[in-house]
Amino acid sequence: MTKNFYITTPIYYPSAKPHMGHAYSSIIADFFARFKKIDGYDVNFLTGTDEHGLKIQRAAEKAGLETLKFCDDISETFRNLSKTLNLTNTDFIRTTEERHKKSVQNLWKELLQNDDIYLSKYSGWYSVSDEAFYNDEEIEELDGNKISKSSKSPVEWLDEESYFFKLSKWEKPLLNYYENNPDFIAPKARRNEVISFVKRGLKDLSISRKSFSWGIQVPNNDEHVIYVWLDALTNYISALNYPDKDDALYKKFWPANIHLIGKDILRFHAIYWPAFLLAAKLPLPKKIYGHGWILSGEEKMSKSKGNILDPIEIINQYGLDPLRYYLIKEVSFGNDGNISQKRLEDCINSDLANNFGNLCQRVTTFALSNCEGKIPNPIEFNSDDLKILNKFSGNLNYIRNKIDELDLNFYIEFIVNSLFESNKYFNDQEPWKKKDDIKRLNTIVYTTLEIVRKISFMLYPIIPQSSLNALKIFSINEDQIDFSSINDHNYLKSGDRINKIDILFKKIEKKND
Ligand code: MSP
Repeated sequence: MTKNFYITTPIYYPSAKPHMGHAYSSIIADFFARFKKIDGYDVNFLTGTDEHGLKIQRAAEKAGLETLKFCDDISETFRNLSKTLNLTNTDFIRTTEERHKKSVQNLWKELLQNDDIYLSKYSGWYSVSDEAFYNDEEIEELDGNKISKSSKSPVEWLDEESYFFKLSKWEKPLLNYYENNPDFIAPKARRNEVISFVKRGLKDLSISRKSFSWGIQVPNNDEHVIYVWLDALTNYISALNYPDKDDALYKKFWPANIHLIGKDILRFHAIYWPAFLLAAKLPLPKKIYGHGWILSGEEKMSKSKGNILDPIEIINQYGLDPLRYYLIKEVSFGNDGNISQKRLEDCINSDLANNFGNLCQRVTTFALSNCEGKIPNPIEFNSDDLKILNKFSGNLNYIRNKIDELDLNFYIEFIVNSLFESNKYFNDQEPWKKKDDIKRLNTIVYTTLEIVRKISFMLYPIIPQSSLNALKIFSINEDQIDFSSINDHNYLKSGDRINKIDILFKKIEKKND
């Protein structure tokens, strides 16, 4: 039976070029997508751009461009970033596409038919930057300007006719759902935030705007466009060809396994989206994970704060895999993290070059001159060999469970420890002193090579290109990477050729240390 896995990133606003925060969400999603792929799943991985609403319309006006042309250009930079980040996304959706419009208008009709929509008037605060409605308690004043307490973005007063979604009606069903599905919102702290927010009471939600036109029209009333969040959230099913519930993609991949998002957009994903789905009688995604922010100093990195870090510049300077490794290891998953060039350089020098790169080089160089350039024959594993080998096999299901809990921190720590122990094993076993005991020498080399293979398999979701470069030692290609094979201590075939590989990571010379 095929196992299916569907993961999504948020769809990004093409209001300005991508920054490190966007790259972070995408890289993390790619990690899970790649892991599931090497663990035998059929993976659907969606990313894209969120192109409607006043925020985008104003950004286009400011740039002096026609709105769609403005979106075309920036959406393309996000699409290119997906390639630069070596993402394995299977689709890239734009909310200006016809397939998406059709899907959103259909969802609207479903909500209307089920008596969840009515026409009234909205009077209240709105943040264009967040595309969010706020009540009085959520607003504060700074230098005479009203701003949102949570995001600090400016708000403006709205007074206009609007369609409303009966969100209040879904307060109890949502609370029941959270209660019965304790893993639905993660991490735990975010789940608690959402539950207390809902418990304070949900008001009906304005879901259309009348004072501008850049959006999807409300069916049968072309004076209104659909609220950009109702539009945007629908991307997760429009990419699966909803409303065609018999479509193969929809049947195979809905409900999604994970909507990976930043904590800033939790309310939309953990309250509005499930309420819309409940109202439309559609299944709910299995998990919503709100990760932390990449900070610049103490603040969230964002365009409006002018403190953005360009992922392309970092990649040009250090390479992609070091950035992927750094973001996964040094930003504790679930929490906020700071980007520091010094720590990035430390990661490259100590973890990647010294621990991983060096191990690969040392064992291949040794095998090339002492084992005729071939995988040696392990005669008999002793307890030292088995100890290091069993570290992997004994933990296969444990690692899988940790991945299902999205415990990325565990996974990376496991690799860091394994690298440390593997280097220690090779040093302690001193194969260079075993030239008189060729059987033992062969077994040590075989064990170390097996470990290099296992670690390279496990590193594939984190640093895919470098993992493939390391696997050239064994002429193993991408299609052959299979997580379950790390259980096998005899995967490498004695007598197969060993290849010398190029240096995997160049050390950074540090001037200031
Ligand atoms: N368009 C909406 C999402 C719609 S999803 C149906 C949106 N877009 S965004 O471009 O502003 O941000 C999208 C996501 O980028 C955030 O949720 C978060 O995942 C990521 N990040 C943006 N800035 C970030 C940081 N400074 N740090 C980490 N990630 C952040 O919101």
